[in-house]
Amino acid sequence: MARKISFINYKGGVGKTSLIVNTAAALAKLGKRVLLCDFDTQSNASIWLLKLDRWNKINASGEGAVYSIFDPGKAKIKDIIIKDVLEGKEGEKLLPGLDLVPTTFNLVDLENEFTGDPKRPPYLVFYEQLAEVEANYDFILFDCPPNILRASQCGVFSSNEIYVPANPDALSLIGFTLLVEKLGKFHQLTASFRKASMGVPAQVQGVIFNSIKAGSDIEVPKMRMQLRLNQFRSAKRVAPTAKIFETQIRDAMIVRRAVALGLPVILVSQESAEASQDSVINDYRRLASEIIRQG
Ligand SMILES: Nc1ncnc2c1ncn2[C@@H]1O[C@H](COP(=O)(O)OP(=O)(O)OP(=O)(O)O)[C@@H](O)[C@H]1O
Ligand SMILES: [Mg+2]
Repeated sequence: MARKISFINYKGGVGKTSLIVNTAAALAKLGKRVLLCDFDTQSNASIWLLKLDRWNKINASGEGAVYSIFDPGKAKIKDIIIKDVLEGKEGEKLLPGLDLVPTTFNLVDLENEFTGDPKRPPYLVFYEQLAEVEANYDFILFDCPPNILRASQCGVFSSNEIYVPANPDALSLIGFTLLVEKLGKFHQLTASFRKASMGVPAQVQGVIFNSIKAGSDIEVPKMRMQLRLNQFRSAKRVAPTAKIFETQIRDAMIVRRAVALGLPVILVSQESAEASQDSVINDYRRLASEIIRQG
């Protein structure tokens, strides 16, 4: 069965998208079948992986983006998955095994204009459609915006695990705290829609520190995060095994450059990746391995 994981924090800009894209690529490189679902209307992950030209076509036509699955009779997830999404200039496949459910800017309409059947909220529609393709994957990852509004709810409701990207600062800790509160409320409100076969609602399994500057001492923010995790664990508000991931991702220019190149860092420079054991590429590899072990 696929492991379904949301990357979410109530704090924006902590590196959710960078982490999910680069970790998804690292998992695919390790031979895992990965589906990345973009639930952020900013479409950062989709633009990054498709590059602007391919993404523009979807955005202009409105066809093939995740919002269309909520329109009855229009499209289903299985129709909009872009297989082996990373392509080179000649259309050659650069990373087999990494698929994408893309989004475009119209996903914002899910929050306001959307008037669906109240008995079938978007997260239920998404969950049921995802079930049709789940067997094709080892990992299904959800890139969520920094809230639990309707788009995020699709990822959270379908997930078995929640990972919280964080920077070593006070605002990330506040974002994490708020997330745990909001998750609890969301699970209460949606309990009647859960089937027994779905298992227990997803709780936070881990916090991943990202963008750690060389030479910076993050012991104090890490300790504060650990204390908060311990409190939540005692109150059974996060998973009993919830932890701070051993792997932390360093701050590196290549992460920012990779976006402009339309590649995950693992593909930006294969040669330097192989040569250097001490690089951000290895951080992502280690994180992918730690996530695999966590399962
Ligand atoms: N390890 C890193 N090293 C250097 N820059 C990074 C790293 N991780 C993320 N960044 C940069 O930080 C910025 C925010 O990252 P990103 O867009 O991934 O955050 P986010 O949490 O997804 O934001 P949002 O809340 O808007 O969705 C981007 O400019 C990104 O390139
Ligand atoms: Mg993002």
